[in-house]
Amino acid sequence: MRATTSHHLPIPSMPGALPLLGHMPQLRRQPLEFVRSLRAHGDVVRFRLGPRAAYAVNSPVLIRQLLVTEAAADAPVPRRGPVRPVFHPSRIRQYAATMCELAEARVDSWRHGAEILLDQELFSLSLATVTKVLFSGHAGQRLAEDIRRTVPVLLEGLGRRALTPVSALDRLPTPMNLRFKRALRTLQEAVRHTIAEYRADPAGGLESGDLLSMLLTARDEATGAGLSDEQVYDEVLTMLIAGTETTAGALSWACHLLSRNHDAQRRFQRELDEALGRRDVRHVSHETLQELAFQQRVIAETLRLYPSTWTLTRRPTNDVEFAGHRIPAGATVLFSIYALQRDPELFAHPEQFDPDRWLPESTPGIPWDAYIPFGSGLRGCAGEQFARAEMAAFLSVIFSRCSVQPVPGRPAHLVTRLMPMPSAMPLIVRRRPRSDRRW
Ligand code: HEM
Repeated sequence: MRATTSHHLPIPSMPGALPLLGHMPQLRRQPLEFVRSLRAHGDVVRFRLGPRAAYAVNSPVLIRQLLVTEAAADAPVPRRGPVRPVFHPSRIRQYAATMCELAEARVDSWRHGAEILLDQELFSLSLATVTKVLFSGHAGQRLAEDIRRTVPVLLEGLGRRALTPVSALDRLPTPMNLRFKRALRTLQEAVRHTIAEYRADPAGGLESGDLLSMLLTARDEATGAGLSDEQVYDEVLTMLIAGTETTAGALSWACHLLSRNHDAQRRFQRELDEALGRRDVRHVSHETLQELAFQQRVIAETLRLYPSTWTLTRRPTNDVEFAGHRIPAGATVLFSIYALQRDPELFAHPEQFDPDRWLPESTPGIPWDAYIPFGSGLRGCAGEQFARAEMAAFLSVIFSRCSVQPVPGRPAHLVTRLMPMPSAMPLIVRRRPRSDRRW
């Protein structure tokens, strides 16, 4: 960590703090507006979470400094070791085939012309996918049902807590807190039980090569020590929380944007038709799907407008210096990928969905550190390639088989929970006649 100098620039304060509450009411009521308003007050801004001072870093260069250069500030002991093989490219290729199969079965269940609640469908599909590919051993099948029941409750509870950083409120015996606690206990017991089954039945568990088996057999290279059951549980929970709403949200927004941009939807379908010919998506390689240039631009633009987090925080263990300002050890430092990627100084017409801003000839106009949907540095997204494979598979399956239209008068809007999620998103799904598919 760099030593700090003794002369520091004063840090501007965000106006509008209330006694005791600070900026909490704004942050709760209009979180997206609040995080987007910070930049106008400086690259580093002080604000208040209740009585405590917190700091926001707002420029791409400083956010990068926070994530990469100063990452040691509060990086947890890098715990990616045991998880890394799960995301090896050879594994991702295998998962991609499963993702396509699951998506095809789901899309085939949609009735032509029906109004489908796409956000719900894609959430349940994403959860089923993570569960299936990460816990594929026999013993993992029962766990799947508990995951399906508990993870939505946990995500909902975590979302509420993210907006209420006063931990005493979480301990009140309200019906929601009780539901949250019950779900957490159920999942914990189910994972413990599955761990015991994996150990007892190696053929159906430990040798399945899935995430759980990898975690259970992982050994520290230096000490030879394995993970405790508690550590395994933490890894499983992190994966379920970090890997479902994120991808489901991004996919829902991509469908929403394409439903409202007829031209982009047609271009995407043309690209798919040319790449697939008469084949189903599951018969096309993972690499081919990743090379569909227009699809990649649609995904990039969706993740710019709707990254899966609206704020993230770090808590440096030492004093750190940002552009001549000193932030004290232990303070909450906040940054917002959402605000960054909609900053009009960094992106022309930032509110507009324009996949072509990602054409190779256009990207030199975008500062390279202005776009970080998967974060950066030591704590960047472990599942980026998994998520990219999932998005490519689902979108290819949906748009090769269907066209998607908005339901008049019922546009989805952003709801801020743990992540900026869509509200109910009804879309009309029509099966594409074969003649439309140009083969
Ligand atoms: C569109 C989909 C996704 C997006 C945009 C996304 C984004 C992110 C971001 C921004 C972070 C960094 C958080 C920070 O800096 O504090 C992160 C962390 C992480 N992500 Fe993802 N993610 C996605 C999907 C996934 C999937 C599918 C998985 C796993 C299957 C996953 C697993 C993780 C894990 C394990 C972490 C680290 C959490 C930690 O260290 O506390 N993510 N993700």
